Amino acid sequence: MKKFAVTTSYKPNQQQITLAKKIANELSCDYIPRKKIKDFNLDFFYVVEKDERLVIRKKGFELFFHPSIAKVRFLNIKKGLKDYLIESLNPSGNEIVLDLTFGLGSEAILMANFLPDGKVIGIEGSIHIYTIVKYGLKNYKDSSNWINNALKRIELYHGNFKEMIKNYPENSFDVVYCDPMFENPVFESSAMNPLRGFALYDSVNESDVENMLRIARKKVILKSRVGDSMFDKIKVDKILKGKNSVIIYGVIYKN
Ligand SMILES: C[S@@+](CC[C@H](N)C(=O)[O-])C[C@H]1O[C@@H](n2cnc3c(N)ncnc32)[C@H](O)[C@@H]1O
Repeated sequence: MKKFAVTTSYKPNQQQITLAKKIANELSCDYIPRKKIKDFNLDFFYVVEKDERLVIRKKGFELFFHPSIAKVRFLNIKKGLKDYLIESLNPSGNEIVLDLTFGLGSEAILMANFLPDGKVIGIEGSIHIYTIVKYGLKNYKDSSNWINNALKRIELYHGNFKEMIKNYPENSFDVVYCDPMFENPVFESSAMNPLRGFALYDSVNESDVENMLRIARKKVILKSRVGDSMFDKIKVDKILKGKNSVIIYGVIYKN
């Protein structure tokens, strides 16, 4: 079991202390005043910053919510470049998408931007990633309005998608999206690096895909990478991949 606690930045205001205590209570861990945190042998700790931004810290490392990759990908789309997730989604604009592996939510934000009358419902299995992102989605304000608007169309839940997909009724969502951690990580992916120590590493099997298809009205989109085994085990109707990219999106259409 990892040892962790919640604290604030130095010289906190009362609001920070109240929020830090609330988060400690939600995580069933201790709130420790910042000056004392060095006296505890913790694996990591949460910090409620002055602007109520929530950060996980450990030596040489920080995990916090930021939609940076969504921004880069949207700028690329605006420049006329293809984004194969958005191509796979081929949105009308009113779809409800279930994102089973939310992570830091970059792809959810990108999808939500193309769903002005729809929404993205996210599931994240790691309590620490979920907590950072839940407070991030709530408090984050960007200089780009499209991000702020996209964030309003996202709902996030904590849970294990393998269990949750068994319980949703048939045809509950238009699209089900799943992007598990790669078997062969792309370490150059700096956006993913802070997440690695906290993430769940479940893979997708045929029975999961059966359930994904059952709860989807239109299609299931799966993400993997060249060299990983997902698409050896799971047959898809369409593969979308950039010429020089290792990232693969596979689409399974519902009849
Ligand atoms: C590759 S990341 C997803 C990145 C995401 N698409 C993004 O744009 O930020 C995979 C995420 O799925 C989560 N995950 C893995 N297995 C899961 C499970 N069984 N249930 C819920 N979440 C899971 C991991 O903890 C991790 O945060």
